[in-house]
Amino acid sequence: MIEVYQKRALTYLILLVTYTVFNYKTIVVNSSFLTLFSPQTEPLDPCYDELGNPRRCIPDFVNAAFNKEVKVSSECGNPPSRLCIATNNDRGDIVKDCQICDINDPKRRHPASYLTDLNNPNNLSCWISEPLSQGNQNVTLTLSLSKKYELTYISLQFCAAKPDSMAIFKSMDYGETWHPFQYYSSQCRKVYGRQNRAAITKANEQEPLCADSNTEPIPGARVAFSTLEGRPSAYDFDNSPVLQDWVTATDIRIVFNRINVKTQTSETTTIYTIDDNITDSSNDLTKPSDAVYYAVSDLAVGGRCKCNGHASKCVYNKDKKLVCDCKHNTAGNDCEKCKPFHFDRPWARATAFDAHECTPCNCNLHARKCRFNMELYKLSGRKSGGVCLKCRHNTAGRHCHYCKEGYFRDSAKPITHRKACKQCDCHPVGSSGRNCNITSGQCQCKPGVTGISCNRCAKGYQQSRSPVQPCIKIPQNNDISFASMETTSEPDSDSGDSCSSCQYSTQRVNLRKYCKRDFAIQANIISRETVGDWVRFTIQIQQIYKHATTKLRRGSEFIWVPIDDLACKCPKIRVKHTYLILGNDERESQPSGLIADRRSIAIEWKEEWADRMRRFQTRQFKGKCKHETHV
Ligand SMILES: *[C@@H]1O[C@H](CO)[C@@H](O)[C@H](O)[C@H]1NC(C)=O
Ligand SMILES: *[C@@H]1O[C@H](CO)[C@@H](O)[C@H](O)[C@H]1NC(C)=O
Ligand SMILES: *[C@@H]1O[C@H](CO)[C@@H](O)[C@H](O)[C@H]1NC(C)=O
Ligand SMILES: *[C@@H]1O[C@H](CO)[C@@H](O)[C@H](O)[C@H]1NC(C)=O
Repeated sequence: MIEVYQKRALTYLILLVTYTVFNYKTIVVNSSFLTLFSPQTEPLDPCYDELGNPRRCIPDFVNAAFNKEVKVSSECGNPPSRLCIATNNDRGDIVKDCQICDINDPKRRHPASYLTDLNNPNNLSCWISEPLSQGNQNVTLTLSLSKKYELTYISLQFCAAKPDSMAIFKSMDYGETWHPFQYYSSQCRKVYGRQNRAAITKANEQEPLCADSNTEPIPGARVAFSTLEGRPSAYDFDNSPVLQDWVTATDIRIVFNRINVKTQTSETTTIYTIDDNITDSSNDLTKPSDAVYYAVSDLAVGGRCKCNGHASKCVYNKDKKLVCDCKHNTAGNDCEKCKPFHFDRPWARATAFDAHECTPCNCNLHARKCRFNMELYKLSGRKSGGVCLKCRHNTAGRHCHYCKEGYFRDSAKPITHRKACKQCDCHPVGSSGRNCNITSGQCQCKPGVTGISCNRCAKGYQQSRSPVQPCIKIPQNNDISFASMETTSEPDSDSGDSCSSCQYSTQRVNLRKYCKRDFAIQANIISRETVGDWVRFTIQIQQIYKHATTKLRRGSEFIWVPIDDLACKCPKIRVKHTYLILGNDERESQPSGLIADRRSIAIEWKEEWADRMRRFQTRQFKGKCKHETHV
């Protein structure tokens, strides 16, 4: 009769525990049931809202101990022993439940796996320790969760008397180091050196407490440690890194230090129930035993897989390791960091108000790696702190947003284009370096050299054989002061692409201009040909009005014009036209022919020029030129 009462009492307790521990299973079943009948739409990812914006998500609440292996320091049945567990019935009577424990008989074993198996109230399975001696009553249970969890409670359901003193430890580093989580004892100070029921304030929220173990009745007692109970910041858990840390564990260790001897040795109302047919009469297994044991039917660890608000479930990866199914561009077993290339903002735990999604670095498609820089992040007003690493495609800069040295930006292509940066094309002799202006591509030219790639001599310069000074000033036959008399607007600078320098070369010819030039001819332009930095025109000389140092003849001749001067139309000379050309004879430095440059005059031929030229000729012969040049 008493046995029946006892079983009923246990059943009631077990039902309670089973409901608490396994209600997550009910939720899972219900939700899958619902999805069957809900409209056939894509199941919503809990980590994103209907608009696709990231939001905090957490894995289901589970019994993290379920079906996990518990390592115990002690198990009964080796050698086989007769054990009587003292329990009490609902009338408060203490009864003894005796049986044989044999580690080699599957039906009589009480292994550690019974701690975390399905806790069936109709078929209670208990782990039972070896008989405890007076000297050493320490027994340890170690549970590895193999993953960081955030724990809400740890509960133990005892098959018999609960220990007088026990300690719960946790590890956050897979068993490397252990920290006390909670103590239970009738003598906290004596056994654990702790104050009984110490006060927890905001200043010591990571402090383990020692609770009086005598407040709960035995047997079938359940000890449940609620991790956040009595801790002030529990109501502001989101903003309490201290408590977030406090509830985090990868491993749990429970140490029973002392059995409640007083209860177990009480003989007053003991009843023996022998439910096994003891056949081996050679030992004294049939005799009532006063040995004491720890016996636990269930170890439950309620909590959630720790994913820092960035995953709604934990899954087994390809190495069969339990890890978070990270979203919000996070990575790591616990979504505790940003995934590669998503370091534009610092990682943070998701809160109800901000999912703290990790965002990719902006590298304009030129880099695959980046790192976070706190200074830059702060400078940007906490918007962007990513710094691209190893920019490719000849780019450089924090965002690979400009061209590296020796390259310039091709403005026809977007910066994200693989060929957005073109190599500088600097002439090895004409430029003073390999680098060019990163926006224009202009190379740095040596003095007297011009062109984007520094491949030409500037106006007034001609090519030399020196690689140090590839362009030298063209020597002038005229007296400098004489030349500058001609016009006040003539610039003496040779650099730049300015064409304004030949404006003095007007369409008017007077005696002074006639006198200053070495030659004056009427010529028909036959053809043109580019030779280096020069254009060589083949001309047909039709009339010679003046020639100085060189003997000119009618007929075929070359006239050389610097390519830059021609581009500026000074002089303006076109094929199949006839011109009056006045210039200076500088043929010493040229292979053959005349030279016309921006100091020369080339005027489209008109018949009236013939008379005028003859008049100048006459005056020249009369010595008028001497007067003109010396004014
Ligand atoms: C009770 O549980 C044990 C161990 O879990 C098992 O071997 C046995 O078959 C169960 N008995 C019933 C009636 O379910
Ligand atoms: C049992 O555990 C307690 C508390 O950790 C310790 O002080 C004691 O030395 C242990 N006893 C033995 C015999 O290991
Ligand atoms: C105990 O087992 C023996 C032999 O197996 C059998 O003869 C005896 O009847 C059993 N006793 C009870 C009470 O079941
Ligand atoms: C490069 O060229 C651009 C446009 O021609 C000019 O504005 C800029 O100052 C140049 N940069 C340097 C460093 O010379």
